[in-house]
Amino acid sequence: MLNVATIGMGNIGKTHAAVYQASERAHLVAVCDMDKNIADAAAERFGVPAYYSVAELLDMVELDAVSVTTAGPENGGHHYEPVMQSFAAGLHVLCEKPISNNIEHAREMAAKADEKDLYFGINLNHRFVPPAAKAKQWVEEGKLGDLLLMNMTMWIGNPNDTSPWFHIRALHPHSLDIMRYFCGDVKRVHAFFNQAPGRVCYSNAQLNLEFANGVVGHLTGSYDTNPRHNLERCEVMGTAGRFVLDNLYQELTLYPRHSEELTVVRNSIMGGLSGFDATFTNRINRWIEQVDGGAPREEIEASGREGLAVQEIIEAAIRSHHSGKAEEVPA
Ligand SMILES: NC(=O)c1ccc[n+]([C@@H]2O[C@H](COP(=O)([O-])OP(=O)(O)OC[C@H]3O[C@@H](n4cnc5c(N)ncnc54)[C@H](O)[C@@H]3O)[C@@H](O)[C@H]2O)c1
Repeated sequence: MLNVATIGMGNIGKTHAAVYQASERAHLVAVCDMDKNIADAAAERFGVPAYYSVAELLDMVELDAVSVTTAGPENGGHHYEPVMQSFAAGLHVLCEKPISNNIEHAREMAAKADEKDLYFGINLNHRFVPPAAKAKQWVEEGKLGDLLLMNMTMWIGNPNDTSPWFHIRALHPHSLDIMRYFCGDVKRVHAFFNQAPGRVCYSNAQLNLEFANGVVGHLTGSYDTNPRHNLERCEVMGTAGRFVLDNLYQELTLYPRHSEELTVVRNSIMGGLSGFDATFTNRINRWIEQVDGGAPREEIEASGREGLAVQEIIEAAIRSHHSGKAEEVPA
């Protein structure tokens, strides 16, 4: 049983806290927000004490792990301090994405978890759906043969114009994580961006990726569309066939190269995922299971190292925009 607290009690913090509270392997013991009203409202909802600073929380409460669900610039600028404070106190941390919008901070956070031998997870929740696991199984069983190429699309509507790189830094940890989940490390990236009329943010992105295993991939991303039509699409092709995972978890199809018979896996209305929030439930429950179960650190799914890896691709894409060239992604 893990004693946990959630730091940052906006909508996402409340989502984490609700999953902890429903879990048989976790015990939500406190909530923390620097905004007293927000902290108090969350404390009342969850029936646990409120703390108004991370230092006070760590001082007063016996904890095993925390969720850091703060936000900040580019939705990640406030994660560094509470994560580092929690590591200093010897706690395991599940941090929201992006790990940080500041790549130096992200590197320090991943290094600190290694140094302290603590679990570090990032809420890259989109991969925690049954059809993604099934598609991964097909890849591992060789149903696609040798992997050759992949296409990924992720697009939503987000008018946030607080910085030029908000879209790529805040949204695309998710899409790039899915790409890495199926095809591994990325070696080089060549990126093009544009701004929709009147926007400060580079709200549209096209990234060409070269993976370390030779796979070539493409990402289309946007903040100028309606996710109710379709949030994301992932296609992976190999020498023996390809799959398409449509709309996060709605439909998965295997297209064998040498047959016209398809395999289709649909999200069932009887017991299937009920909506986007279910991806949080799956991800956080997997985190609880791995941490409470004492999994080897290198097996933690969607780890801090993986959260760092996607930010490294993002920063290489921004460098590519400036240089006009393909840029290396640091290993
Ligand atoms: N995984 C997903 O699918 C997904 C979806 C949406 C948002 N997110 C992420 O969730 C995070 C939170 O999003 P949100 O919309 O709930 O943000 P929010 O701004 O509504 O809430 C963040 C809260 O953190 C508090 N806070 C900031 N620094 C603090 C500190 N040092 N100590 C205590 N409290 C502090 C703020 O007062 C605020 O109440 C962001 O990183 C965002 O990128 C993830």
